Amino acid sequence: MEKELVIVLDFGGQYNQLIARRVRECNVYCEVHPYTLGLDAIQQMNPKGIIFTGGPNSVYGEDSPRYQKEIFDLGIPILGICYGSQLMAHVLGGKVETAPVSEYGKTEVSVDKSSLLFQGIGETTICWMSHTDYIAEAPAGFIIRATTPVCPVAAMEMPEKKLYATQFHPEVLHTQEGAKMLSNFVYNVCGCRGDWKMSSFVADSIQAIREKVGDGKVLCALSGGVDSSVAAVLLSKAIGKQLTCVFVDHGLLRKNEGDEVEAVFGPNGSYDLNFIRVNCQERFYEKLAGVSEPEQKRKIIGEEFIRVFEEEAKKIGAVDFLVQGTIYPDVIESGLDDSAVIKSHHNVGGLPDCVDFKEIIEPLRLLFKDEVRNAGRELGIPEHLVSRQPFPGPGLGVRIVGEVTADKVRIVQDADAIFREEVAKAGVTGLGQYFAALTNMRSVGVMGDGRTYDYAVALRAVNTTDFMTAECSDIPFEVLQKCMNRIINEVKGVNRVLYDLTSKPPGTIEFE
Ligand code: XMP
Repeated sequence: MEKELVIVLDFGGQYNQLIARRVRECNVYCEVHPYTLGLDAIQQMNPKGIIFTGGPNSVYGEDSPRYQKEIFDLGIPILGICYGSQLMAHVLGGKVETAPVSEYGKTEVSVDKSSLLFQGIGETTICWMSHTDYIAEAPAGFIIRATTPVCPVAAMEMPEKKLYATQFHPEVLHTQEGAKMLSNFVYNVCGCRGDWKMSSFVADSIQAIREKVGDGKVLCALSGGVDSSVAAVLLSKAIGKQLTCVFVDHGLLRKNEGDEVEAVFGPNGSYDLNFIRVNCQERFYEKLAGVSEPEQKRKIIGEEFIRVFEEEAKKIGAVDFLVQGTIYPDVIESGLDDSAVIKSHHNVGGLPDCVDFKEIIEPLRLLFKDEVRNAGRELGIPEHLVSRQPFPGPGLGVRIVGEVTADKVRIVQDADAIFREEVAKAGVTGLGQYFAALTNMRSVGVMGDGRTYDYAVALRAVNTTDFMTAECSDIPFEVLQKCMNRIINEVKGVNRVLYDLTSKPPGTIEFE
């Protein structure tokens, strides 16, 4: 049976990925495509439904994104959200105008529950609004299904053509019953059955990898992070010892991390794969000696990583496939990003040119991050690996301000381990990312009867869902104090502990 698909057509909305994630949470596979996707391509994909995103434009703008009218005659259910709803109204002959007052934020919406979209929803429900224009008049043949005091058409529909539209955003969590509305759309309107399940994704992927690889040799750069760990396990379940994983320990990992990765993936671990650990701490420290400029540090670490990997690959000889840990947000965003480079990210996986191989395998390219974690759980990967927080490719190199030395790595590793231990002990939850960093500041202190002139460690903890913006986490003061006490007493070379209050922007999450 053909797999179900819902398409999100992106008109420049900031929530395009969120819509797709919410639909997938309903167990329906969903892909994001630009609004320039042609009608023929859409028909070939044979989707069960289409969702138009919001966007910053006005339908009257000269360069505003549009779609040809014929899309509404395909017989495929369509849900327009915000700008998408206005576009539907505009193209089909309704009237879109600048609203007398913009609505922004949580708004009480009165809904008509006889709509398929609003089954099981309260008669009044809180929804997230963010618009300047609105639909002043629905096109002929449309029924108005929701209103607010400001908005005469907060939702409209033409059930016989399966066209639906909401001015509000059902995909954001502030819309209290939004998940139910999206579920109503995909099940009640599009008639989906819900065949997107992690168990079937894993089983299908294993099958597909076996078919693709045959008896070929596969090489994977394993960092111990979530993506590369899940990719490695998926491949090892599919092809066992045909897979070789290379784990580069560059000496910039968290405390004991190298051994932890080896314990899981190495010869005494749980998987039947070839595992090569390359211990090259000194080599990285030598390259980094005397370098304090952040971008230069990042480049050195990235390049050296590739060199090490290349050398190992040469020892293994020609391979047929190289694994890359690309995930779905990378696929959506690739090619779109021409914004300023704040930091040059280096990720395990960005290696295609340096190794002699025939093809790339990207086993996770269809998955969002939370789905990668679920695939990991499905594969039986230990929870501490599956749910671990993000860790940057250049590792502690970007958490040590200024020059990196082995001694500074020791300080930041020990302080970080204490911070993580105390957060776990105190049961603090909901932190997006938290770690210790080493500032390049030394200051005077007094310990026992003596003067000290030592480093300041900064603790950083942020709440974030997208890692593009972040707020400082409200960690209980006594937990911070406990960390301060332990770090100063247990970590030689530190006499001051600071807590970083900076949000992002203007700060970034990492220090460099
Ligand atoms: P920043 O510091 O830019 O970090 O606010 C945002 C998120 O990205 C992670 N990060 C990286 N991840 N390679 C990565 O794979 C990198 O070079 C890198 N630099 C930062 C950071 O930990 C945070 O989650």
